[in-house]
Amino acid sequence: MAQRPSPKSGGKVSRRDFMKLMAAAGTVMTFAVFADWGKFLPPPKQQTGERQMVELPDGSQANVNSFPVNHAEAVIFPKSDDPVLNKEAFRTWQFIRLPEELGGKKNDASAFRMYSMVCLHLWCLWKYWPQDGRKRGECPCHGSLYDPLTGKAFAGPASLQAPPSNVLPSLDLEITSDGNVWIKPPNWSPNGNGVVGFGRFLT
Ligand code: FES
Repeated sequence: MAQRPSPKSGGKVSRRDFMKLMAAAGTVMTFAVFADWGKFLPPPKQQTGERQMVELPDGSQANVNSFPVNHAEAVIFPKSDDPVLNKEAFRTWQFIRLPEELGGKKNDASAFRMYSMVCLHLWCLWKYWPQDGRKRGECPCHGSLYDPLTGKAFAGPASLQAPPSNVLPSLDLEITSDGNVWIKPPNWSPNGNGVVGFGRFLT
């Protein structure tokens, strides 16, 4: 049975309800043409100037002294107090420590990358594969491949899209003297850190 709009939202679908709807539908693609993205993208953290820790799935903070080379984990950013919002694909990032040949053994932020996991083609979630002969991001839906060094698609349908929709959004990182890794406040624009699901201009 169709649900009536909540009085709290003034007849409009709230951001949280929208995300639940997407989860129920099992795909975000249906909404691509209709959505007003500004309402659903992560809030611009740069307004508060806060950095956020890189929180690993086990709840610990990523640390340069313990995070393995040529390894990746999914990280939520920005993290909210609402567990439903934290499951949004648009808040899911792949935190990668590069393989040794790409500088992953260094003890500074250059050894790491953090890219939106939302594929730029039709928004499936891609992931990093560390195996020899791969060492790249791969999307399971239509085979787009992403360069871990730059976030640029180099094969598959995402690679055929015009800039900025061929380069993944990327977050800037910093490492404090204790080795902990932090996410700097982003600039959500194609010329800055990028727009999730849309892309980023490579500078
Ligand atoms: S959604 Fe990733 S290649 Fe199509």
